[in-house]
Amino acid sequence: MTGFVPTMGALHSGHIGLIKRARLENDLVICSIFVNPTQFNDPKDFEKYPATIEKDIVGLEKAGCDLLFLPSVDAIYPSGVKPVINYNLGYLESILEGKFRPGHFQGVCQVVHHLLEIVIPNMLYLGQKDFQQCMVIKKMIELYNIDTDIVISATQRETDGLAMSSRNTRLTKAEREIAPAIYGGLRFIEDNIKSENIDLLKETVKAQLTNKGFKVDYVEIANANNLDIFHEWDGKTTVVVLIAAYLNDVRLIDNLLLTTFKETE
Ligand code: PAJ
Repeated sequence: MTGFVPTMGALHSGHIGLIKRARLENDLVICSIFVNPTQFNDPKDFEKYPATIEKDIVGLEKAGCDLLFLPSVDAIYPSGVKPVINYNLGYLESILEGKFRPGHFQGVCQVVHHLLEIVIPNMLYLGQKDFQQCMVIKKMIELYNIDTDIVISATQRETDGLAMSSRNTRLTKAEREIAPAIYGGLRFIEDNIKSENIDLLKETVKAQLTNKGFKVDYVEIANANNLDIFHEWDGKTTVVVLIAAYLNDVRLIDNLLLTTFKETE
């Protein structure tokens, strides 16, 4: 069995957790580091994407990764970066990250499709941190009948709740102190979803984050199976609460799955 963990580098414990899980479940573990130019809708985000390759290699070796694939842009896109396929992602591409980052998921599909054709893994390891990305890749794999199973691992967090992300290294000290408020917003929704009106709850969290200095793209509550937006919840269907917000020019995303109303004492 071959397990594959695609990444864009600047590895943290979230990535390393995926490698460790793949190590437990496979004979061969392959990681790729490739900062894919076609999935950055904001060129500044691409230019400023952190790179820590020496440290990454040490972390991968320690976690038991067998092989690191570190391709050039030409190796992944020998005929140029211009897409030849338009992935039919439908509704998935019209909401949340798809809406706020036009073209992003086409770029993700383009690169993951190429990587899967090169690596041909049995298992593909992805993080729940990028919830919508997991759904998009699942759809792409179905559309193209690719013989790879997806494994989704839980989001790794810092002790203050901030979801680990390569982009966190771009936060100033002051921004880093505010950043955990995104997770705070997710937990606030979890705590209040039983008693509050959902639309009002979303607005409340948006206002809380805006007051702290975030520029909020969205606070949404959706069906975890298909990302249909919820305006009411029965406490039975699994929902995902999703937030995307900027601290200056650093864009952060996070999400939380809710399976039942949280019991209050
Ligand atoms: P990147 O952001 O480097 O993430 C690589 C993988 O690590 C993704 O599956 C992501 O969901 C997972 N990951 C990131 N932060 C995590 C955390 N805190 N806890 C658990 N898993 C986490 O996502 C990408 O790269 C790219 O879009 C890629 C799929 C490689 C295509 O270019």
